[in-house]
Amino acid sequence: MISLVILISGRGSNMAALLDAVGRGDLPVRIAGVVANRPDAAGLATAAAAGVPTCVVDHRAFAGRAEFDAALAEAIDACAPDLVVLAGFMRILGEAFVQRYAGRLLNIHPSLLPAFPGLHTHRRALAEGVRIHGCSVHFVTADLDHGPIVVQAAVPVLDSDDEETLAARVLAQEHRIYPLAVRWFAEGRLQLRQGRVVCAVEQAAHPWLIVPASAAG
Ligand code: GRF
Repeated sequence: MISLVILISGRGSNMAALLDAVGRGDLPVRIAGVVANRPDAAGLATAAAAGVPTCVVDHRAFAGRAEFDAALAEAIDACAPDLVVLAGFMRILGEAFVQRYAGRLLNIHPSLLPAFPGLHTHRRALAEGVRIHGCSVHFVTADLDHGPIVVQAAVPVLDSDDEETLAARVLAQEHRIYPLAVRWFAEGRLQLRQGRVVCAVEQAAHPWLIVPASAAG
């Protein structure tokens, strides 16, 4: 069974979705640790309550990004994970860090990449008037929010939406696609080869990856 480390900065609902999937027997991985860059990250308590070892590498304690990245890598490597999962981790990681975990570093982003990289994705989607929005799981590269895409879920944007309702609809799908992508990796069905995603998955088995308005919440 592969092991993973999850990196968080805050609430940790994507982390909780992964923990829940493991608890239900839907995700054949061992969660070796959760690392936060903020001591007040609410997800730390959720992880501890689930019996997962946690630690904090506070970015404010380091002179610069290289020093922080090195300390973070040390905390991760202490768990010797097969996969590192960014789940609402709000620090930009340097090239050396990204290279160290190349092909085994995943992120989830609340937009249909390559649209809306960066912050405030739901606000920007509403401002642009897009009719379809969603979320993406991708391998992390040094190019922020532009790594090779593994899986996406699309949701409608409704006339009645505000930032909060749209974020909630997208988040519900994040909680479905992240455990799925991690399961594919754990089952040896997902790889990064020469910068491209190779994923041995029957796409027709997952029709809900485009979510009809009636089911999107
Ligand atoms: C999620 O929307 C995730 O896609 C983004 O930050 C948010 C984190 O939420 N990167 P949570 O901490 O997983 O609840």
